[in-house]
Amino acid sequence: MTDEPQEALGEAIARRRTFAIISHPDAGKTTLTEKLLLYGGAIHLAGSVKARRAARHATSDWMALERQRGISVTSSVLQFAYRGYQVNLLDTPGHADFSEDTYRTLVAADSAVMLLDNRRGVEERTRQLFDVCKMRRMPIFTFVNKCDRPGGNPLQLVSDVEADLGLGIHPVTWPIVNAAGFIGVADRRRREVLLFGKSGDHGATLVDTRCIPLDEASLADAIGAETLHTLRDELDLLDHAGHPWDEDAIRHGTLSPMFFGSALTNFGVEPFLHDFLDHAPGPLPRPAEDREVLPTDTELTGFVFKIQANMDPKHRDRIAFVRICSGHFVAGATAILARTGKSLRLVQPQQFLARERVAIEEAWPGDVIGVHDRGTLRVSDSLSTSGTVAFTGIPRFAPQFFARILTSDPLRRKHVDTGLRQLAEEGAVQVFYQDSVVGPIPIVGAVGMLQFDVLLFRLENEYGVPCKLEPLPYKKARWIRGPEDAIEALTEGRARMRLFDAKGGSILLFEDEWALRHAMEQSGKLEFLEAAP
Ligand code: G4P
Repeated sequence: MTDEPQEALGEAIARRRTFAIISHPDAGKTTLTEKLLLYGGAIHLAGSVKARRAARHATSDWMALERQRGISVTSSVLQFAYRGYQVNLLDTPGHADFSEDTYRTLVAADSAVMLLDNRRGVEERTRQLFDVCKMRRMPIFTFVNKCDRPGGNPLQLVSDVEADLGLGIHPVTWPIVNAAGFIGVADRRRREVLLFGKSGDHGATLVDTRCIPLDEASLADAIGAETLHTLRDELDLLDHAGHPWDEDAIRHGTLSPMFFGSALTNFGVEPFLHDFLDHAPGPLPRPAEDREVLPTDTELTGFVFKIQANMDPKHRDRIAFVRICSGHFVAGATAILARTGKSLRLVQPQQFLARERVAIEEAWPGDVIGVHDRGTLRVSDSLSTSGTVAFTGIPRFAPQFFARILTSDPLRRKHVDTGLRQLAEEGAVQVFYQDSVVGPIPIVGAVGMLQFDVLLFRLENEYGVPCKLEPLPYKKARWIRGPEDAIEALTEGRARMRLFDAKGGSILLFEDEWALRHAMEQSGKLEFLEAAP
């Protein structure tokens, strides 16, 4: 017997980092992503990701909807190598293309980078995504961006984030600002200051840094006596009144290491990337029915967290994104789909390098691969060599937009139902019913408006049924668990509506946050759940 395969597995796991960036639109996610690729050597001149995205819109067989809207629905995963690490950066669609995929992507990650604008702190979208990370107790590293322009007081920012999110913050780097602006960061753990060279090309290439120990006399000359005095005071305050570094708390998502920088000028990006990769966890164990799957298990296992439908009617094939959880994947491998017990060849496995697709020969725990799918796979599906592993699945998150779905042709009702069922299985949209009405008109729910556009487009193009949506005025929803009479009583209140999901679970819709809070106060023993039970 040889331990070689186990050793290779252990080595691959130790080198893997799989994470997602959570942020509000415009905080700089695209810019930071690009800079991570720049530092990772996957691109050589920043500016190319955006440029390539624009160029592709003009030339490729990009799906019609994407072209019409000028956005990217096909978010995926970017892979690059950096200082011996194999990094999988999962792309979380954020702008108009925010959808359930964004939430689901987080389930495939082992840690998250929370990107904040130095003037705006925690914004709504960040909070929504943070809530999902918190639910999963995911380690979160914070990068405060745009420090090249004046922002709020960093001490205030730390306490605001802590109060807003109920999260401890440990600043690892601290911004140094003098009359010339943002000139460097202090690295608290290494007790040194990193001073940035001026980047003459607006951050297109790597930035030079000069390192000076915090207690070296020349530091006063380098940054100015007054700036040094302020810096020492602030660092002193952080040392005495701030949260100490605590690996365990970081690992459980209750303490977030914070870094300051500017994705635009590259200032602070490198120290962040170093520390993040050194301290973020590698592939974590994943809960499955009646056991936990360890990344070191030799059996190949994985789950589908996203299905990318090809909207070109001429190519009905799809790509299923599979997160490998254990074992060694080799191209051509077969696995058993737990839901059906059937064996499946994982065809045309691909990975994604700076947005280019490349065929792959192998993959390890933490990696995400795209496999060709002809409609067999669904979001949340578990794959394994033995067929006995069923991951506990990806929760369905409470939608924020609701609409009745109407078709002008009642004879094609069946097509609508088939389309909705399949699209719901694929995870494109959620479907609900009002049970009391005979011949119910389904109600669709989504976390982003784009999901509705995609839905209508696909119903018409793939199922031949043009439909219309009649929006409902509800913005909040919770699954409700408890005695039936109590749920019924609660439904009576103002600005509420009760629906049933495909499994018969009750979901209550509210017009606004107030209606929701009021209901929670009245609720007695009922449970309010943000994700489907
Ligand atoms: P997003 O993906 O999170 O939505 O943000 P994105 O990177 O597209 O950045 C949003 C805007 O913020 C962009 O400006 C970008 O240049 C700017 N930005 C990103 N990082 C920094 C930073 O560190 N400092 C400063 N000062 N600005 C930053 P834009 O004018 O909307 O677009 P563009 O014309 O620059 O591309």
